[in-house]
Amino acid sequence: PECKLQLVRDHIRPYQDFPKKGILFRDICPILKYPAALTAVIDLFEEEVRRNYQTVDLIVGLDARGFLFGPLLAQRLGVGFVLVRKKGKLPGTTLSVEYNLEYGKAEVEIQEDAVAPGQKVLLIDDLLATGGTLFAACELMKKQQAEVLGCMVVIELKELNGKDKLKPQSIFSLVQY
Ligand code: PRP
Ligand code: HPA
Repeated sequence: PECKLQLVRDHIRPYQDFPKKGILFRDICPILKYPAALTAVIDLFEEEVRRNYQTVDLIVGLDARGFLFGPLLAQRLGVGFVLVRKKGKLPGTTLSVEYNLEYGKAEVEIQEDAVAPGQKVLLIDDLLATGGTLFAACELMKKQQAEVLGCMVVIELKELNGKDKLKPQSIFSLVQY
């Protein structure tokens, strides 16, 4: 696992002052460009899930970069993948929750019948910053009466205390800064 983790770490690229001055942006694009690194991410997620949970009904991925990892993990586990999208992207009746971002404000949505009451779900995204996005997704899961087993991210930005905001949810991250 240490070797896989190193492969992941080595394919995260920092950009100073993006998208705004003062923000050190951690870019996951190199992970996707290098198959062994992407495989390492999914391997590590899969190992964590199998270690901790007997039953997972669905993987729920966050717009947009949760969509890059979520379906791969869902396929590995043999379960379905559901999209939490930014406002206005999903057809049919939706549920929505507003939230604050590290930079800006937004609203996330899910199709009303995407998750059935009582289903056990894992939330997945590329990165945990303030936790606003995952918190909003957890609120959506509450509205659907789903059981959130935990949240999984590739990167956790520790100084923004996203974990505290998400308490008592369990947060699993591969790389911490
Ligand atoms: C980023 C990132 C997470 C979120 C984390 O997405 O991919 O989804 O911010 O921040 P938070 O923990 O403070 O909520 P962003 O909102 O930049 O949008 P994108 O996925 O459309 O690029
Ligand atoms: N990198 C990528 N996405 C982000 C970041 C970051 O540093 N902060 C908030 N969303």
